[in-house]
Amino acid sequence: MYIIECIECNIKNLNRTKEGLFHMSLSMNPRVDELGLPGIRKFASQLVNYPDAINLTIGQPDFPTPEAVKKAGIRSIENNLTTYSANAGLIELRKAVAAFFEEKYNCHYNPVDEIIITNGASQAIDSVFRVILEPGDEVILPAPIYAGYEPVITYHGGKCVYLDTTDTDFQPSAERLATLITPKTKAVLFNFPSNPTGATISHEQMDALANVLKDQDVYIISDEIYSENTFDGEHRSFGYYPELKDRLFFIHGLSKSHSMTGWRIGFLMSDAKLLAEVTKVHSFNAICAALPSQYAAIEALTNCKDTPQEMNKSYIRRRNYVYDRLTKMGLDVKLPTGAFYIFPSIKKFGLTSEEFALRLMKEGGVGVIPGSVFTPYGEGYLRITYAYSDEELKEGMDRLEAFIKTL
Ligand SMILES: Cc1ncc(COP(=O)(O)O)c(C=O)c1O
Repeated sequence: MYIIECIECNIKNLNRTKEGLFHMSLSMNPRVDELGLPGIRKFASQLVNYPDAINLTIGQPDFPTPEAVKKAGIRSIENNLTTYSANAGLIELRKAVAAFFEEKYNCHYNPVDEIIITNGASQAIDSVFRVILEPGDEVILPAPIYAGYEPVITYHGGKCVYLDTTDTDFQPSAERLATLITPKTKAVLFNFPSNPTGATISHEQMDALANVLKDQDVYIISDEIYSENTFDGEHRSFGYYPELKDRLFFIHGLSKSHSMTGWRIGFLMSDAKLLAEVTKVHSFNAICAALPSQYAAIEALTNCKDTPQEMNKSYIRRRNYVYDRLTKMGLDVKLPTGAFYIFPSIKKFGLTSEEFALRLMKEGGVGVIPGSVFTPYGEGYLRITYAYSDEELKEGMDRLEAFIKTL
């Protein structure tokens, strides 16, 4: 942010940010200016100028929240259960979280002091980085990766170091990880199943990563928000490895598994000592998660445990359809095994991913996200979300095919 003079009104203390000019004499934290707007939103918001475009950009399920979950939220409001809860969240919900992750992934967390209910996984991510990062710390992330981490890491004074997965089928190589860890490394962050690639990690690969990490003095942050959307084999969590527990932050939530993006419920699970520190930050920046959402979450985790598997039937059908169409168009693409994204390469067209996505939107009438939004390692790819109706996917693929023929 720069203090400059306004040529129109001669006010000296005018701040210029990327977003415009502000008539004010007080400066702001320059790191906020560097944040900008989330790349996905920035791109998706341009679609309003193309109302006839097929929108395959947004990363959220296209199903309604399960009926029973909605009713639990409504009941909570009707019964005046609309107050604060304990900072860490309702103990009944924390117990439900502990039971769910124990049953599903064999992870053991004590509901009393090893689980916090957050406002979505996003708040868990932010709170963890607030607590662990000191200026100059490095965080290793397999890339391409979800665009929501890098701004938070840099905002809190850290630096991202990327582990290239583009030549290893989007799997993080344990050997490569070992070479990237230095005394500056504070944490390694994983997100599998992956947004944007749809890749999952095999149990053997997880064992190899855990083996490298167990001897390293680094935190592990694992955002497994798509684990319930695993299509091939069984998801293995980093929470499965007891030898990592004293430095693991295991992040999850209901946004994707139960189509609850607007309810804002996330889970942060960790060792009690680490979590006590995060709870301090969480208590000041959120107090607690919204109480009706917490009651709805109990219902989701107890009586609607199979909802994600129901949704998966549709995702698998749609994934197969989109994969088949992209392959027939001659695109180099890997079959995703989780989440609801597919990440074809468009390198052969000689356009940057942003140029390709912009032209596809304007000339072809389809909205997708340029891979470069997901770190520079995503350059040369597109992220297509297939959590859309069969009709939208068919029309989107028809238009993409027609657009490619014009290149
Ligand atoms: C990998 C990943 N983590 C976290 C989030 C944010 O989740 P929440 O809605 O729980 O904040 C998203 C949303 O797209 C995501 O893709």
